[in-house]
Amino acid sequence: MLVPKAELHLHIEGTLEPELAFALAERNGVALPFASVEELRAAYRFEDLQSFLDLYYRLTDVLRTEQDFADLAEAYLARARAEGVRHAEIFFDPQAHTARGVPFATVIDGLWKALHDSEERHGISTGLILCFLRDLPAESALETLRAAEPYLDRIVAVGLDSAEVGHPPAKFAAVYERARELGLRAVAHAGEEGPAAYVAEALDVLGVERIDHGIRVLEDPALVERLVRERIPLTVCPFSNVRLRVVDRLADHPLRRMLELGLLATVNSDDPAYFGGYIHENFAGVRDALGLTAAELRTLARNSFEAAFLDDDARARYL
Ligand code: ADE
Ligand code: ZN
Repeated sequence: MLVPKAELHLHIEGTLEPELAFALAERNGVALPFASVEELRAAYRFEDLQSFLDLYYRLTDVLRTEQDFADLAEAYLARARAEGVRHAEIFFDPQAHTARGVPFATVIDGLWKALHDSEERHGISTGLILCFLRDLPAESALETLRAAEPYLDRIVAVGLDSAEVGHPPAKFAAVYERARELGLRAVAHAGEEGPAAYVAEALDVLGVERIDHGIRVLEDPALVERLVRERIPLTVCPFSNVRLRVVDRLADHPLRRMLELGLLATVNSDDPAYFGGYIHENFAGVRDALGLTAAELRTLARNSFEAAFLDDDARARYL
């Protein structure tokens, strides 16, 4: 089961385990509204995406220094290697930190401390994906992209996350156009809680190459046909979909149907510290709940390398 795989949908802030949150709170003198690790873990029961995001942003408050971001990324890489990850494209949410007064440079220098030699130390090649918070104004996203300009050699793509409904992709058309001018690739969360129409809009207006989640495309058969024809990858996150109540139970997850329809689906962990498991647990979970065959699991792993932002030589080495 520890088949080599790429992780393509992972928010670094979503890997903040309760134990590390408490350790960083103490190191930085930050008061957390929870008495213990156990009490915090007990709060990981979510009604929907927003109820999760409220806690996720609240806990980012413990991340203050370069070393905090380095420790966070290092903990993820060590765990990911043990789960068979060979390549990771990692989201980060700069606005969740700059809004609290943490400079962009602190965030990216800290993450880079762990990532720059990850291939030598962990055998994991990495890419950073700068995500814009879609519930903030487009002007704030543009400002964030300007702050990123000195660091473009560390960033592979831009992405779009946070509260989806009411924040359609088109709001960020100018930001994505600028990102493309800067040579960045593009992805976006779409069709998680929002409608299938947001998936089409992300492709047509933002020009994204990959859709994060995209589970609601199944409501639009013509769009499914298009994604199959154009081989647009979907970074599916099964545990996340259950915890955020996008699907009722893992056994109800449409992942197998997605594969049967010919969609280029991958399995990812999204925010593993909050959703009950990292990528291997997601693979094992869908294997057991959906009865996926060894061939289907191999397809999922293979899809992850096909969908990754790797050059042909690197891809050939992994496949
Ligand atoms: N930020 C972190 N996890 C997210 C998710 N699953 N959807 C949207 N924004 C997020
Ligand atoms: Zn996500």
